[in-house]
Amino acid sequence: MGKTTDRSLEVTYAGIRFSTPFLPASGTFGYGFEPANFRALGCFGGLVTKGISFKPRHGNNPPRVRETPCGMINSVGLENPGLDVFISRILPEMRNSGKPIIVNLAGHNVEEFAMMIERLNEYDEIKAYEINISCPNVEEGGLEFFKDVKILKNLLGTIKRYSTKVNVIKIPPDIFNYNALMDILLQDGFTRITVANTYPATFVDVEEMQFYFERKNGGLSGSAIYPITLRLVYELKKDYHEVEIIGSGGVYSAEVAIQYFLAGASLVEIGSVNFVDPNIVCKIKSGVEQYLLQKGFNSISQIVGMLLPK
Ligand SMILES: Cc1cc2nc3c(=O)[nH]c(=O)nc-3n(C[C@H](O)[C@H](O)[C@H](O)COP(=O)(O)O)c2cc1C
Repeated sequence: MGKTTDRSLEVTYAGIRFSTPFLPASGTFGYGFEPANFRALGCFGGLVTKGISFKPRHGNNPPRVRETPCGMINSVGLENPGLDVFISRILPEMRNSGKPIIVNLAGHNVEEFAMMIERLNEYDEIKAYEINISCPNVEEGGLEFFKDVKILKNLLGTIKRYSTKVNVIKIPPDIFNYNALMDILLQDGFTRITVANTYPATFVDVEEMQFYFERKNGGLSGSAIYPITLRLVYELKKDYHEVEIIGSGGVYSAEVAIQYFLAGASLVEIGSVNFVDPNIVCKIKSGVEQYLLQKGFNSISQIVGMLLPK
């Protein structure tokens, strides 16, 4: 049994080589190159952007974040500088990291997704798109893309037509019939998914006798959600072997990351916990290395999906 090296954490996902199986979850790690992120950057295997839209978006009015005893709720909205600024100012900085870049896309409508993909296709360091199908489709009165089969199929068809990269669909966790959603994705050949986004949640200010957030609802994230998302990862991987999963939900320690790998996630995203400790990924990385060493494995890929029925 040899000492583990960085090589033991190397993962090839959809043909993309990641030096470690850890990614920052969209919207929780800036764009990766900010000074506070310097050390952590070395421990992430790739970068994921905040949701990018065609035009700049201001996001929601404050308050935007609320801690609760069981997770944090955010109502940040899809604040971002828009595609032009992303390409001219942010992408060149991200490129310096030398890491594979995944651009999280949040279009207002199907055409915006198409226009963004067409422009971004030409940048080689962008290896994949993470498509947020929980974002509101403004043309359909704000209904989220995943909530209407016709709209979702239209979006998937457009992505297939325009994208020259790996396409990862980021699914919401609040789906009542995930088989129906998976059937739609698989029919169109989408076998890479991020499981999952935040859980719709709300908070009431009892003093003011009002909802805390202007938009009433936000998304719950953090350690509170991991057992629920973990189950979803396992169920999806069990029922759809061909699907390659990125786990995203409450990963805050090496142990939780390992649970996700054993349940079938090939990569995991680290999200809300970055706000508590921006270098947590390095602790998680060394904890996973220790675990592999103790258990006598040479590579992270040996433990991925170990809990699945043979
Ligand atoms: C402040 C904040 C902003 C987020 N912004 C986005 C976003 O722009 N696009 C997206 O797909 N997910 C977004 N997410 C969801 C995260 O990427 C992640 O999937 C979710 O928070 C679950 O992981 P966690 O429990 O480790 O935070 C955001 C989450 C938080 C807390």
